[in-house]
Amino acid sequence: MIVAGVMSGTSADGMNVALVRVSGRSRHTALQLLCHAEFPYPANVRKAVLAAMNAERASVADLAKLNFLLAELYAEAVLKTQRRFRRKAELVGCHGQTLYHQGEAAQFLGRKIAATWQTGEGAIIAARVGAPVVSDFRPADMAVGGKGAPLVPFLDYLLYRDQRLGRIVQNIGGIANLTAIPAGASSARVVAFDTGPGNMVIDAVTERLFRKPFDEGGRIAASGAVIEPVVAHLLHKSFFFRKPPKTAGREEFGHKFVTSFLKLCGKASKTDVVATATALTARSIANAVRRFVVRGKAYEELIISGGGAKNATLMAMLANELRALGLQLRLSDEFGLPAEAKEAVAFALLAYETWNRRPSNMPSATGAKRPAILGKISYP
Ligand SMILES: Nc1ncnc2c1ncn2[C@@H]1O[C@H](COP(=O)(O)OP(=O)(O)O)[C@@H](O)[C@H]1O
Ligand SMILES: [Mg+2]
Repeated sequence: MIVAGVMSGTSADGMNVALVRVSGRSRHTALQLLCHAEFPYPANVRKAVLAAMNAERASVADLAKLNFLLAELYAEAVLKTQRRFRRKAELVGCHGQTLYHQGEAAQFLGRKIAATWQTGEGAIIAARVGAPVVSDFRPADMAVGGKGAPLVPFLDYLLYRDQRLGRIVQNIGGIANLTAIPAGASSARVVAFDTGPGNMVIDAVTERLFRKPFDEGGRIAASGAVIEPVVAHLLHKSFFFRKPPKTAGREEFGHKFVTSFLKLCGKASKTDVVATATALTARSIANAVRRFVVRGKAYEELIISGGGAKNATLMAMLANELRALGLQLRLSDEFGLPAEAKEAVAFALLAYETWNRRPSNMPSATGAKRPAILGKISYP
């Protein structure tokens, strides 16, 4: 069947839509990417989404309206993609926009509660697109003790497992997360976790210092010098030492983190600040790989996906760090999946599994006690 996957990540840059032909089941599931399109959020929507994510307090009415508004945008994005490529999806998997994610339970009103919230109302998307929609993927994993993230390892395992090569799949979205698949491993041996910031800190400082949403091609960072003591200091944050599985979001690397980061940079030049944010991402990924993944085990390749792949300075820094670990850096594009399309493809696949009543969380990655069928289905 043809499934549309819709992803909008923590960068809040917009929506990625992938139309994917999916067939078969379990190890024999076959995926074919038919087409992919990107739709940036209008500037005022991006602003509202970022404000909602960073808010200590927010208006319930505004959040309710955002839920319906984003759904209209998701639906339009799917419809436009269908028209542009003359294809029609029979099913939609929509991740939604994460406004809050706390994978770990903490005290709340006298109970230990973990919580997550992806907004973008499935019923609206289903009605507009005229196809069933699977949305809200994360809560079912959390209901069985998982952290609700990461979910993409299910796709990584399907696409990248190899009998002879140990592979690390590294996505660099707002947050950076990796999936490590040892050569010939069963899915139970896959390790996956968030390594820390991806583009989130780079985007935030570029926005504050240069009034641009991101550092195009990594050109600003390329003209600056890394302030090493700042990177070293930030890498002491306890998140980086916590054992996987672990997840991160704006709660860890959002507004507050960026404010303290800028304070540490003091009177440094603006380009140096962006270079330093870029180095923080590269270094924290390499540290995570060294500390929690490689440790004497055989890994040959690190495959990059996500918008961070477009930041040449970040890629150069990362390649440099990885060389010391004996890892070759590759792009998901080399495997037939454009770097920016991968997560959208993942949610097409997860929707397909749910539609067929099959679980698609990976307990080794999320920490869940058992496999769970993810998501909620809205009918047109
Ligand atoms: N041409 C580019 N140059 C540099 N960075 C880019 C470019 N295109 C995208 N990015 C970065 O990728 C981010 C979006 O990546 P994406 O994988 O969509 O993340 P998310 O899943 O969090 O939305 C942007 O915010 C930006 O930081
Ligand atoms: Mg995005």
